[in-house]
Amino acid sequence: MISKKMTDRINLQINREMYSAFLYLAMAAAMKEKGYAGISKWLTVQYHEEMFHAMKFVKYLEEQGAAAKYEQIDKPSFKDGSVKEYFEQVLKHEQFVTSSIREMVELARAEKDYATENLLQWYIDEQVEEEANDNEILQTIDLMGNSAHGLYMLNIQLGKRENEATLDFTAL
Ligand code: FEO
Repeated sequence: MISKKMTDRINLQINREMYSAFLYLAMAAAMKEKGYAGISKWLTVQYHEEMFHAMKFVKYLEEQGAAAKYEQIDKPSFKDGSVKEYFEQVLKHEQFVTSSIREMVELARAEKDYATENLLQWYIDEQVEEEANDNEILQTIDLMGNSAHGLYMLNIQLGKRENEATLDFTAL
């Protein structure tokens, strides 16, 4: 049995994951407009990943006999700038999500809610991977000295990213 407090907290996280999806979709559109089709694709794949994160929580609530509650999603907020500045904002946002997930683990532990704590371990691992990906991209940009040729190559490389998360949420 899941508590009302934890149900509400998971619903808040569903909103945050959907905001993340919306943010990356908005960034993808901005990158596409600048001609970075590969980076736009990478961000669009990230949009799908975030929706998967949200729907994995929805599925969990269903399994616990609780309901997902969808609230308004904020307007995506980011500053236009260089490719490096975009990825700095992606990393900063992911660091915020990581702290949000950690906060949930603390609540699960306080409530001795082992089922939710177990689910959250998947998200903890996912956050390690996401921050590592963002750091690697930022490191690559630094290594190539933010050069136009380097960014062109990075654009091609990031365009090779494929969806890993299932897009069929009914299969969750
Ligand atoms: Fe759902 Fe990017 O964390």
